[in-house]
Amino acid sequence: MEKKGKLDIEELWEKDLQERYPENPAKEKEEYRNYDDPARDTVRKFYQENHRYQTLDFVLKKKEEFLKFDKREMTLWDAVDFLNTLVDDSDPDIDLDQTQHLMQTSEAIRADGHPDWFVLTGFLHDLGKVLCLFGEPQWAVVGDTFPVGCKFSDKIVYSEFFDENPDAKNGELNTKFGIYEENCGLDKVNMSWGHDEYLYHIMKDYLPEPALYMIRYHSFYAQHRENAYAHLMDDNDKKMFEWVEKFNPYDLYSKSPTPPNVQKLRPYYEDLASKYLPDTLKF
Ligand SMILES: [Fe+2]
Ligand SMILES: [Fe+2]
Repeated sequence: MEKKGKLDIEELWEKDLQERYPENPAKEKEEYRNYDDPARDTVRKFYQENHRYQTLDFVLKKKEEFLKFDKREMTLWDAVDFLNTLVDDSDPDIDLDQTQHLMQTSEAIRADGHPDWFVLTGFLHDLGKVLCLFGEPQWAVVGDTFPVGCKFSDKIVYSEFFDENPDAKNGELNTKFGIYEENCGLDKVNMSWGHDEYLYHIMKDYLPEPALYMIRYHSFYAQHRENAYAHLMDDNDKKMFEWVEKFNPYDLYSKSPTPPNVQKLRPYYEDLASKYLPDTLKF
């Protein structure tokens, strides 16, 4: 029972993203002006916590804790099933479960004729959310990501809440480049901790570079939608972000009214996984 509603914020976050970045901006602008929405308050509170607690120090500690991968060893499908236990108790007819979100994303990519590693990336891109099942709070799993260790951009959603982040008052960390150098490359930059960064480290030896960028930066809206951190990127990052941008619409807008037939499609994804991934993955 404790798990019930655990990912509520995540659905709200996704809706918030769709409102911030509508697929059809002209048509949907008006709905976005609906400020009485109680869901928006929940999202605000979520970002208030996220922005307050995601400090450089916090990120470094989480990396130390989770990049040992001593929590659990699972096949890809075990991980998908494990992630799905997050919504076991939820009302089945309100929204798609995790597996369905993953499969709708990947099936939309497949329908557009993209390479198989791109399809696989769509299928696994959110598996890092298993962090929730290891007891992590939602603000440390989902939500927009952003660099820490340098100035927080005002292009980040609800950036006013960074006033409550101690790093914003730290003279070494609150400058444009902070602890980094101009165009040093994002690999040297610490991102706020969440499912993107975590899964990147799990997958980094197995998937092609564009796939790894999609996984690692898919929630980095301040860059892939707002271009607020180009000063930290090197030329390769800039090239690779074309893939991140290509991936984003599949993540945000691929919900179709008919849920995918998970059992029927499972063999295809198991084959695909065996082409790129080892039998088991360490989380
Ligand atoms: Fe995600
Ligand atoms: Fe997603």
